Amino acid sequence: MFLVTGATGRLGGCVVRLLRQAAMDVRALVRPGSEYFWLNDTGCDYFFGDLRQARSLSRACRGVRYVVHAAGIEVESTDNHHSVVTLQGTIDLIDAAVKRGIEHFVMFSCVGADRGFANPHFDCLGKAEEHLVASGLRYTILRCPAFTEDLAESARLLAEGKPWRMWGSPDGRIAPLSRRDAAIFALVSLDKAHDRILDLGGPESLSTEQAVARACAAAGAQPTQVQWFGGVKSKAAGLAARALGRRWKHWIERQALLYGQDLAVDGPALASSLGLPLTPLDQALAEHLAAERLGADPEDREERVVHRQFQATVYSPGEGAWDDLPEGPLREVD
Ligand SMILES: NC(=O)c1ccc[n+]([C@@H]2O[C@H](COP(=O)([O-])OP(=O)(O)OC[C@H]3O[C@@H](n4cnc5c(N)ncnc54)[C@H](OP(=O)(O)O)[C@@H]3O)[C@@H](O)[C@H]2O)c1
Repeated sequence: MFLVTGATGRLGGCVVRLLRQAAMDVRALVRPGSEYFWLNDTGCDYFFGDLRQARSLSRACRGVRYVVHAAGIEVESTDNHHSVVTLQGTIDLIDAAVKRGIEHFVMFSCVGADRGFANPHFDCLGKAEEHLVASGLRYTILRCPAFTEDLAESARLLAEGKPWRMWGSPDGRIAPLSRRDAAIFALVSLDKAHDRILDLGGPESLSTEQAVARACAAAGAQPTQVQWFGGVKSKAAGLAARALGRRWKHWIERQALLYGQDLAVDGPALASSLGLPLTPLDQALAEHLAAERLGADPEDREERVVHRQFQATVYSPGEGAWDDLPEGPLREVD
């Protein structure tokens, strides 16, 4: 049994789908009230818990052999922030995994987590990494770079007439990676990367400006319309952060570091050492832009969301897709 945290998120969702395609048993950690119905077609199990509740984590780890920890915080809120989730939540999950005798713990982190950046995202991930390394568990830490899908999504919105505010410098260096490839690294690491910290990178190392231009080209947007706000020390970033408040301040700083520093690594070298192909950048951009935008269409959403009274949802199967589903509990019922 795999326990996947962040399963309702973009990266964790990819992990769940890949594992279910490989007919693995998966338990998705889902926060009560989260929208998990997009996972129903995979036939994974759900465990309702929260990284801020250590007891729920201990129960979630019962009978589990592998943990893939993909939960993370995009923008902090008053009670769901990096100290209590990224750091303490991860520590509690690692301790629960130790107690339950988990065989291998895979943790997604971020490139730059070891650079001492004064930002809670990087700082808390760095400390959580240290806790995992010292835990005695067999581990793999996968430090992810900027994700290709985020560039594609911003470019798509720009093409639709919405602003793209880029917190980062054109001369930052990034190696964008698709989330699906990052998820594949997690699976492969169970066999091939014991007790290792891997800095991941996508197929190409580019300046942030070049990466933005490629995303714009894929989406049919004009790169000249991107609004650049500069690196973490830029005046605009400082002013915006002050105006928007602390939680946005941390997010803006994080983006400015992720897209404004030289955080590019040689992705192809690592991938080939593990025997993995990387999805070409233009292909990953095109695939994201062509993919169904789940939840974007209110009518489609209304059709799929039932059982609102439980703050939970159930996907109504059918419409031809049923036969394409991976093997799993739902298929067995069929
Ligand atoms: N996005 C980037 O640019 C980037 C870059 C490098 C590394 N990373 C790393 O990638 C990972 C995930 O990225 P992503 O893009 O998949 O993020 P995402 O789509 O925002 O997903 C975050 C997930 O974490 C869950 N979560 C948040 N607070 C939680 C809590 N208190 N207890 C349990 N689960 C909680 C969310 O659950 P809900 O559905 O309930 O909100 C969601 O499933 C993180 O480890 C992040 O550090 C991200």
